[in-house]
Amino acid sequence: MAEDLTIQTGGKDGGIVINDDWPGYSLELFNYPKHYSGDLECVYIPHGVIMDRTERLARNIMGDLGDHDIVVLCVLKAGYQFCADLVERIKALSRNSDHTLPMSVNFIRLKSYVNDQSTEDLHIVGAEDLSFLTGKAIVDTGKTMKTLLKHVEAFRPKMIKVAGLLVKRVPNSSGCLPDYVGFEIPNRFVVGYALDYNEYFRDLNHICVISESGKLKYKV
Ligand code: HPA
Ligand code: MG
Repeated sequence: MAEDLTIQTGGKDGGIVINDDWPGYSLELFNYPKHYSGDLECVYIPHGVIMDRTERLARNIMGDLGDHDIVVLCVLKAGYQFCADLVERIKALSRNSDHTLPMSVNFIRLKSYVNDQSTEDLHIVGAEDLSFLTGKAIVDTGKTMKTLLKHVEAFRPKMIKVAGLLVKRVPNSSGCLPDYVGFEIPNRFVVGYALDYNEYFRDLNHICVISESGKLKYKV
């Protein structure tokens, strides 16, 4: 039941809930790069659905931010595609309304996963001086939120909002959830739409579940 699984966040909804028994779509029904044949189990979230959901998140964000300037902090690498598409949608909404928000885009790089496992050490690479955040509203895309939020809060922005495309139902959740969530998904390792497995699959448009043979093929 969607109501049971949806966790209330600061945003207007907790994301589209994908249940544990969702099998995904057969790969036969979609196009995807030939070099990944055999490496995937199913199409979990088609690219078009991601885009439609992102458009709605952009509208929610615009509605909530009032007249603040936006400083976007994109979390690389996995967040780049979502961030780029979200920014495009915000720009499009802004063009078509009187309510325009000046926006700058910045990047930070985090790395914590090897194979499909999270490692203890989270590396923050790049954007060491975040002083540009002072007095701004932030939309942050990506994961490993808690550490990053502490880092960002130190610069005392007026408002911090986090947008995450995916929230996983994991047993050891930090309880720290984005304000804007695209989808709430089961605890499965997914790839595509810039999400990687050891740097592979970022060039896949759909979000897919990797197959066991795919995991073996690209294991380090
Ligand atoms: N896919 C890719 N990267 C990730 C995932 C995932 O499911 N979870 C955390 N980092
Ligand atoms: Mg990764």
